[in-house]
Amino acid sequence: MESLYDQDLAYIHAAGFGGLAQGAAPEIVRLLKSAAIPVRGIVDAGCGAGTLAARLVEAGFEVTGIDSSADLLAIARTAVPGARFVNASIYDADVPPCEAMVALGEPLTYHSEEADADSLVQSVFRRASGILPAGGMLIFDVIETGEPTLAGRAWASGEDWAVLVHTSEDQAARTLVRSIETFRRVGQLYRRGRAIHRIRVFDTGELAGALAACGFAVETAQAYGSQRLAPRRRAFFCTRR
Ligand SMILES: C[S@@+](CC[C@H](N)C(=O)[O-])C[C@H]1O[C@@H](n2cnc3c(N)ncnc32)[C@H](O)[C@@H]1O
Repeated sequence: MESLYDQDLAYIHAAGFGGLAQGAAPEIVRLLKSAAIPVRGIVDAGCGAGTLAARLVEAGFEVTGIDSSADLLAIARTAVPGARFVNASIYDADVPPCEAMVALGEPLTYHSEEADADSLVQSVFRRASGILPAGGMLIFDVIETGEPTLAGRAWASGEDWAVLVHTSEDQAARTLVRSIETFRRVGQLYRRGRAIHRIRVFDTGELAGALAACGFAVETAQAYGSQRLAPRRRAFFCTRR
């Protein structure tokens, strides 16, 4: 299984990129507490460093986090001892019985060059449909097609790390490639690392159609409550019929 977040990128993600999960957690908790059925078990797919899992455990849910990065899970296990964590890909993990599944921060968008991303994501919808009882919820977000282009350069830094990201976009192929360069202080020096993330961009209408065909009622938004999403991100709030 390919890990997209190895040691230093996992550290940087945990240190500097928890804002979306922190900001989205109150709305996700609110939705799950007011779902059509009592929600007890939640699968946090692509849970990363466990930021959302921590808020869900605090709210009284039983949480299973699934992530393909062993380094992010090591951080999550320390931060959230009350959750269970599984190191696996969403696409072949054993998903336990649950009343809700969440994939926050675009976990469904990462795909290798040779993967059939659309089929894989639809297989997640079918599995969720089979596992969730009527009234259960599937909540996730993706990057959608359209403008503005996401191509460009960006950087961020913290006390002992920095990250540079160069993104290229092929709108016709619906793909983004992020070339990521990391710098993390180790002793007196900075260790340099690299990662490439290949990202699938989705058509919102097509995803909504695929979800409806799997038995979900679908709403979408560009925010989780008061937490606005970045440009061209789309959150899906799906209820099993
Ligand atoms: C941008 S991070 C979001 C992490 C977390 N949900 C949050 O909002 O902070 C994307 C996460 O998805 C995970 N991921 C990507 N593809 C995955 C897959 N096929 N199976 C499991 N996890 C995956 C990555 O390892 C990473 O932790």
